[in-house]
Amino acid sequence: MDEKQKYFDAFGAEWDKELTAEDLERLSNIIDNFHVSQGLKVCDLGCGTGVLFDILRRRVGESGFIVGVDFASRVAHKAHHNFPFHNVGVVEADVCCLPFGDGIFDMVVSFAAFAHFSHKDETIHQAYHILKPGGRFIAIHLVGRDELAREHHQHGGPIDHDELPDREQLAEMFSRGHFPNFELTDTKSLYLAVGFKD
Ligand SMILES: C[S@@+](CC[C@H](N)C(=O)[O-])C[C@H]1O[C@@H](n2cnc3c(N)ncnc32)[C@H](O)[C@@H]1O
Repeated sequence: MDEKQKYFDAFGAEWDKELTAEDLERLSNIIDNFHVSQGLKVCDLGCGTGVLFDILRRRVGESGFIVGVDFASRVAHKAHHNFPFHNVGVVEADVCCLPFGDGIFDMVVSFAAFAHFSHKDETIHQAYHILKPGGRFIAIHLVGRDELAREHHQHGGPIDHDELPDREQLAEMFSRGHFPNFELTDTKSLYLAVGFKD
C-alpha cells in the first residue's frame, strides 16, 4: 500500500462529514446539468463513502446502475455498507487499473478525487475504454485549481502535491487519452472538467 492509499484508508471514511448541505446542493445542481436519465450506467471514480451515489441513484432509477471505485478498503467498505442496493456496487481498486470491460458506462464521474489520482493519464485512458461511444468523463471539485492546490499544500502529508491540471495540461491529457473534445471551467469555487468520447 502506498502512502496516499494508507492516508485515505485512515482518514477517507470521515471526509464526507466535512461536506455541507450547500455543497451537496451545488453538487446535485452540477449533476443535473448533465441530464443523468433513467437507465444510465455510471462509474464513480474515487467514490469514497458514496457521496455521489444517492444523487445518481435517484436519477438513473431501477433500470440504471452505479459502480463506485476506491482504493482505500475501509472507505470502500463503508460505501458498500451505506448503499446495499441491487443497482449500486463498490469495487476496491486503483482507478488507473479498472477491472471492467470496454464500453460499459454512459458516464464516468469523479467528485473531489481527480486531484488525488497519481496516474491521471492512465486514469483518463481507462475511463475512455470503459465508456460507451458518446459517453462523458466528468471531474468535479467544488473549488478551483489554485485554491485546491493551496488547501492541499496547507494540509501537507501525502496529499501535499495533489494538484489539478491546468487547461493546457488537461488538453494534452485528454488528447493522449483519445478524447477528441473537452470543456473546462476553472473558477475560484469550481473545477469542472468534461471529456467527450466520440
Ligand atoms: C477526498 S476523497 C473524495 C471521496 C468521494 N468522491 C466523496 O466525495 O466523498 C478522495 C477519494 O479518492 C480515493 N482515491 C484517491 N486516489 C485513488 C486511486 N488512485 N484509486 C482509487 N481511489 C483513489 C481516496 O481513497 C478517497 O476516498
